[in-house]
Amino acid sequence: MIIIVINQKGGVGKTTVSVNLSYGLAKRGADTLLLDLDPQAHSTVVYCPEAPEGQTVSNIFIDKNCDFKPLIRPASVHGGEIPNLSIVPANIHLAKVPEQIISRNHREKILHNQMKKITDDFNFVVIDCPPTLGVLTANAVYCADFILIPTTYGKYSLDGIADLFESIDDIAEGRKYVYRILRNMFDVRNKQSNQFTDDQLSPFRDHVLTTIIRRNEAINQSQMNSETIFTFDPKSHGAEDFGNLAKEVSDYAKEDSGKE
Ligand SMILES: Nc1ncnc2c1ncn2[C@@H]1O[C@H](COP(=O)(O)OP(=O)(O)OP(=O)(O)O)[C@@H](O)[C@H]1O
Ligand SMILES: [Mg+2]
Repeated sequence: MIIIVINQKGGVGKTTVSVNLSYGLAKRGADTLLLDLDPQAHSTVVYCPEAPEGQTVSNIFIDKNCDFKPLIRPASVHGGEIPNLSIVPANIHLAKVPEQIISRNHREKILHNQMKKITDDFNFVVIDCPPTLGVLTANAVYCADFILIPTTYGKYSLDGIADLFESIDDIAEGRKYVYRILRNMFDVRNKQSNQFTDDQLSPFRDHVLTTIIRRNEAINQSQMNSETIFTFDPKSHGAEDFGNLAKEVSDYAKEDSGKE
């Protein structure tokens, strides 16, 4: 199952979710690949800080005959390898890729075509998207089975979600996918803004995940320390919430494969 973590809004937790969901899935025993599709390369900083300059996700887009497998590297945190987890790293040069592929036909399908080479090797692929709706994000949408949209709490947190759905619909061209909204940075003390956001989410009720990620300072610190919440503070609320998220996503995947 290919899970993409997407929202054109910056700072809503896409990278935090990608890093910790992929860890949580791997911890449950699933072979998991995290693909960093953001030129900011924040997921790469956690799992593969010494990524070789010329062996990144950019190759998939630039080199038509690219061999995907050598780009896949074992994920490690501060030198400790994480069982069942691999990463395709990114770097800042990914920012130039949209320009470099501008004249290619079907340029939003490049990743999908390449991904076919490796999807049999993994139970889950998680893609960390950049905060834009450009061609990189379009490539992620075109290969997605499960579109995960982190949102935060607050007056403007769902602004732009209609544009996001419209773009997803346009790009997917009738391909089958599900989308789920993940509520992030929940703070029980903010009763009114929580109510406001929940009201705004009510039309999407069937597409909101049960798991809520609480605002948790340990999550913030783990990111600052270039770590996962599970390695940084396994007893934190953050680790508990991301454990629940991994379970909810795994359960969905099991149910879905049962339907085939
Ligand atoms: N549940 C949480 N509790 C506390 N801090 C959080 C939580 N989720 C995310 N953060 C913090 O919020 C900041 C933004 O998160 P993150 O980088 O994951 O967002 P993003 O959507 O990937 O950003 P960008 O759009 O720039 O890629 C980070 O400093 C992160 O540590
Ligand atoms: Mg990010």
